[in-house]
Amino acid sequence: MSNEIESVLIENRVFPPFENLVQGAAISGMDGYRALCEQADKNPDEFWASLARENLNWTKPFSTVLDESEAPFYRWFGDGELNVSANCLDKHLDTPTADKTALIFESDDGKVTKITYRQLHARVCEFANGIKALGHKTGERAIIYMPMSIEAVVAMQACARLGIIHSVVFGGFSSKSLHERTLDVGATLIITADEQVRGGKTIPLKSAVDEALGMGGCEAVNHVIVYKRTGGQVAWQEGRDLWMHDVAANQSGDCTPVAVNAEHPLFILYTSGSTGKPKGVQHASAGFLLWALMTVKWTFDAKDSDVFWCTADVGWVTGHTYITYGPLAAGLTQVVFEGVPTYPDAGRFWEMIQRHKVTVFYTAPTAIRSLTKAAESSPDHHPRKYDMSSLRIIGSVGEPINPEAWMWYFKNVGGERCPVLDTWWQTETGAHMITPLPGATPLKPGSCTLPLPGIAAAIVDEAGEEVGRGKGGFLVIKRPWPAMIRTIWGDPERFKKSYFPPELKGHYLAGDGAQRDQDDYFWIMGRIDDVLNVSGHRLGTMEVESALVSHELVAEAAVVGRPDATTGEAVVAFVVLKQALPEGEEAADIARLLRAWVAKEIGPIAKPKDIRFGENLPKTRSGKIMRRLLRVVAKGEAVTQDVSTLENPAILDQLSQAH
Ligand code: PRX
Repeated sequence: MSNEIESVLIENRVFPPFENLVQGAAISGMDGYRALCEQADKNPDEFWASLARENLNWTKPFSTVLDESEAPFYRWFGDGELNVSANCLDKHLDTPTADKTALIFESDDGKVTKITYRQLHARVCEFANGIKALGHKTGERAIIYMPMSIEAVVAMQACARLGIIHSVVFGGFSSKSLHERTLDVGATLIITADEQVRGGKTIPLKSAVDEALGMGGCEAVNHVIVYKRTGGQVAWQEGRDLWMHDVAANQSGDCTPVAVNAEHPLFILYTSGSTGKPKGVQHASAGFLLWALMTVKWTFDAKDSDVFWCTADVGWVTGHTYITYGPLAAGLTQVVFEGVPTYPDAGRFWEMIQRHKVTVFYTAPTAIRSLTKAAESSPDHHPRKYDMSSLRIIGSVGEPINPEAWMWYFKNVGGERCPVLDTWWQTETGAHMITPLPGATPLKPGSCTLPLPGIAAAIVDEAGEEVGRGKGGFLVIKRPWPAMIRTIWGDPERFKKSYFPPELKGHYLAGDGAQRDQDDYFWIMGRIDDVLNVSGHRLGTMEVESALVSHELVAEAAVVGRPDATTGEAVVAFVVLKQALPEGEEAADIARLLRAWVAKEIGPIAKPKDIRFGENLPKTRSGKIMRRLLRVVAKGEAVTQDVSTLENPAILDQLSQAH
């Protein structure tokens, strides 16, 4: 890690905040930022309580703030009651926001549909009433497996309105992954679509649901509600399957929101860990909503006139926090996009920013890097061809943004007028944790800068002791915060073990390595565990390995990440087959087969970019696979490390030659 840190920290350009953004900012100037941090440090309970009182509508006010009695199972505002959907929709009904556009939906083929807050409220109510009429109740779990659409937002909001806990599964996951999640979460309801459309291609969704349910064990699912997106052919099970428009038809546009306890789970979202199957990260209603809203106000400095566009999919946490909940709670107009950045061409994002007059744009480094490549090779798709003067803030999320990509984004997309907000956070943290503030923080390309007020981020060593400036270590959060993960659904022990290891003195362990510089700015160095970040998507090496070894040809597999100029990291798999070592065409055929297998087992995002075959894997004498050596081999570099503990050093040559 140390070499990488040194090379990043050579970066010493600093961009002070733009004056026009400092004026009138929610947090204005570093003095404003520091004052809030001090308040939070001095009396955290009072800090969080006043934010929660001022920013959320409670049906029953809370009297307790943080309850640590069962740490690390923290509870926030534990005796309060509210409804999240009412806080996103109903609260605007008696204000001018009611008739403001809530969502500007643009389909893959460019068709635009707009919906106001009042209309969205009615749609959510009709659908929620329909779900209720089917007999579904507060506390049940619904799987949502849908394309980006107004309907996906309606489905999530309708669940929240009824206190039904949703678990959104990204449409790119396979039926096998969907099956695992449906079982784990104990779903009674699945909301899906006939097909999804991305980049001009249709991809079936309903048939994947049918397949998943056919795998057995999901008898609790008694309804599958289908949004008709394309009208493509679907199989139908009478009694179980229903069209979304039929469920909502003839229902009242008014549905009393169910007041739930502040700690009632709002959603469960599966994400990869370093061991075992994906974990169901459970979030609580009030704490999550509070931080989703506050970060929209603070980080994005939300203004009534904003047109906000977060390009994430609702299948990931970014889409939950910065599409379905935060921006709606803030009453913003936002763009929701069905398609991909490169269709019909690589100018799509820039053209959409121009046409919808987007003011705040939030995307992932992987998109920036691939669009940089496209723009530099084809001037027609360069952002400078488009009028993007509406932009005032541009953000980045999901993986480290290297200084080159940061500068390109700053110059070419932001026109050197818009701050680049490199926001660090995770599925588990619920919302932004370490990020610049547009009206306060001087920026350094490649750094996510400073923690938000109330967030006690620090860097510690293996014993939980804080390390000094310039020293690498584990990124931890020393104090609980309202939007934090509550538990891993159905596995509280794993929750404790993963995030609160005893040696770290009760600090939340993020799983990232980081370092602070002389100004105390944070520099994230990437995961410290066996989690990969491919195009901003989290993948466990173990998951990919399990998928590979479940194929009949495979005896053993080890998966590592390799730095990749576009996707950040790429999956490299080392595979030992049950048969003799394949060569030439045969090796290529088996590699193709295994890639398709992984796509089917997990989803196309998990496909190894490179598969290497060997007669064995590098192992210690006690049989442990030496992944650090495989990482070197995966990069195509010579192994210079000490290999004396290796049982079979010759295997490294074999795996390297296969490169
Ligand atoms: O390694 C960090 C990286 O993404 C991980 C969290 O992934 P996920 O839960 O899927 O959430 C992604 C969207 C919030 C982190 O542990 N990561 C996220 N944002 C950044 C980042 N790494 C560096 N810089 C960031 N801004």
